[in-house]
Order: sequence, then C-alpha cells, then structure tokens
Amino acid sequence: MKTTTIAVHAGTRKDDSFGSVNQPIYMTSNYRLPTDGSYFDPTGINDFVYQRERNVNMLVLQDKLCGLADAEDCVVFGSGMAALSSVFTTFLKSGDHAIVSKVCYVSTEALFNEALNGKYGVEVTFVDTADTEAVKAAIRPNTKLIHMEDPGNPTTEIGDVEAVAKLAHDNGALLSVDATFGGLLCFRPRKLGADIEIHSMTKYINGHGDSLGGCVMGKKELVSKVRELCLVKYGGVLSPFNAWIISRGLVTLPIRMKQHCYAAQKVAEFLDTCPAVRFVYYPGLKDHPQHELASRVMENGYSAMMSWDLKGDRETHFKFLSALKLVSYAVSLGDVETLITYSESSDPKLQDYPEPFRAGFFRFSLGLEDPEDIIDDLTQAFRAAGLL
Ligand SMILES: Cc1ncc(COP(=O)(O)O)c(C=O)c1O
Repeated sequence: MKTTTIAVHAGTRKDDSFGSVNQPIYMTSNYRLPTDGSYFDPTGINDFVYQRERNVNMLVLQDKLCGLADAEDCVVFGSGMAALSSVFTTFLKSGDHAIVSKVCYVSTEALFNEALNGKYGVEVTFVDTADTEAVKAAIRPNTKLIHMEDPGNPTTEIGDVEAVAKLAHDNGALLSVDATFGGLLCFRPRKLGADIEIHSMTKYINGHGDSLGGCVMGKKELVSKVRELCLVKYGGVLSPFNAWIISRGLVTLPIRMKQHCYAAQKVAEFLDTCPAVRFVYYPGLKDHPQHELASRVMENGYSAMMSWDLKGDRETHFKFLSALKLVSYAVSLGDVETLITYSESSDPKLQDYPEPFRAGFFRFSLGLEDPEDIIDDLTQAFRAAGLL
C-alpha cells in the first residue's frame, strides 16, 4: 500500500460491538482477566491486563507508526523526553561512554549532563555529528551509544548517518537518531543504518499542537528491551486518549508534510533574498552547509524547520515579534500554525553553533498556512520594525 493509505488504515482495530467506523478510545486502566484458570499471556496480541503495560489505542498508534516508517517494532511513551531517556537508560550503564550531537534539544543535553553523567556515571562527549571525523576521533573502547539529532535542533545541520552508523557498528556501538525535525516521512535514519529512531510525537506526528508523546522504533530485539525496562518499570506510558489523538493526527501526516515542505521552501527562498535578513539555514536552500547531503538523504522535501536572523538589535527583534499577526511567538514545532522562537546572543549555548547563530537567531516552524500569507505577515512585521 502507498503511504497515504497506510496512514488511514494501518493499525485500526474495528472490534467493538457497535460497528463503529472510527477507532474508539478505550479509556480503561484495567481489563477483565479469564476466570477459568487458563494461561494468560500479558504480551499476547489480544490479551490486555493493565493500561501501563499495553492498551488498545497504544497498539493502534504503534502499528500505524510501524506501517508508515517501515519499522519492525515501535514503543510509544508519554513524551519525546520519556522516549529519549528510555533509550539512553536501556542501552547505557555506569562506565559506558556515549557520543552525543552537540547541536541537540536543550533537555537532551541536560539529561546527559545532569542525570546520565552527573548521577549515574555515564561518560559523555558532545561532538559536531555533522563532522564524521570528529565523531571518529571521539570514539573510545567503552563507547556503547552514538546519539545524533538529525536535522539538529535548532541549526538544521545534518550529519552523515550512513558513515556514522558504520563507525558505530565497527566499534561495537549502537546508533540512535532523534529524527523529530524530519517529520517521520522526510528523513528515515534507519534506512541509512541507524539502529534506533526516536521522535517527539508532540511535533509533526501529532501535528496539531494539542498533545505530547514520544516513540522509539527499530528492530524487535532492541525495541523490546526498551519496552520491557522503561514502559512497565519507569512507567512513562502514553494515555489511551493521547494515543487516540496522535493516531488521528498521524492519518493526515503524508498530506500535511507535503504542505509543510512546500510552504517552508517558499518562505525560505523569500527570506534568503530579503534585504532585512542576515542569514537563513534551511536544508532546501543551496547555500545550506549540507544541502547536497540533505538532497541525497531527505525524501519528499526538506521538512519545515529553519533558522534565520534579521539585521537589527535586540529592540528591533522584539518590535518585529510583536508586529507579527499570523505567526505565533511560542516554543515547540510541527504544528498546523507557524511558530517562531528567539534565542538571544546572551545564551552561552549559542557559542556551540555555527558562526552566524552566535549573534542570536529565530527558529521557525512553518505551518500549513498558504506561504504567501506568511510572507505578507513577515513583510508587514519587517516594515513595522523599520527594516524595509
Ligand atoms: C528534537 C527534539 N527532540 C525531543 C524533544 C522533546 O520532546 P517532548 O517535548 O515531546 O518531550 C523536542 C522538544 O522540543 C525536540 O525538539
């Protein structure tokens, strides 16, 4: 089946007594057990005991994700951070070494610094994973996991997953990739050799900005380790309601990603030639440092995340932000509406990013609006800030 058909039909269980066409929500914390003394397999296809172990809506969502991402197995969690921390704590123990993208979501970096290294004795090296030689130089005999964020949040830089996967495997390590920025369908790291693919489903997969979730995908033998340790014992379970909401969002992911990519390319090209703009990083632009690699490894477009900055001081940035009418100044990404965040030069983290980012920048998540309307909104806000 083709992607749009898989998105609609995969996973759905139409097994209720009322013949509903849509997937019902099973809001139950526990299920009746057999009273005839028969053997009960809590991991059996239709055997349910308790919501934290498995619930119907969780399975529907996992099956849809496996279908769309061509994954052998998938486990979902209550947030992207729950998915990430589950992978790291499953595959790393005290004394192991991990190599992590130095451009990554702030809480991922903090998790490594404060918990995995700070409390549990995992050694960590942050490197520029867009530089394969730097990854190679960081490998130690006890390296057990390389974790890339690809494309990286917030710079949109892209690493060579194929080369890093080979490095990891030649040295007895696993490669996990947080591919949230790629919206599931634009970037498929497991096809390039990654062992584990992680997404914050809060972003494109759900897509509507109304619920949190995370997923881990890969071979059964790896995903079942994450499920067994982290779902049941750590307990970061996704509720049936949120699983249902995200499954509903996922149905339209293929058509949403088409519009996201189309709008982002148009807006990036506008920003790239706009005299008010200091720089733009978008993988779909020819001057993006990894445009060639992105064109080889990304599919169906370049997703819809970009970073850029205008020419002006702090006050001009806030004048511009307050003049925006359609674009919302808010965190998160992958929603139906366009979102913008601002990172100021006073943030020491910016020194880890390429040179143009260090003076401050905006991160932009293009929504599903017509790009002409977003360009008009930006133009009037540039004018209000005195830039055009
Ligand atoms: C790349 C990336 N990974 C993971 C996360 C964490 O996801 P969640 O907010 O669903 O916990 C985020 C959140 O912004 C993110 O941008």
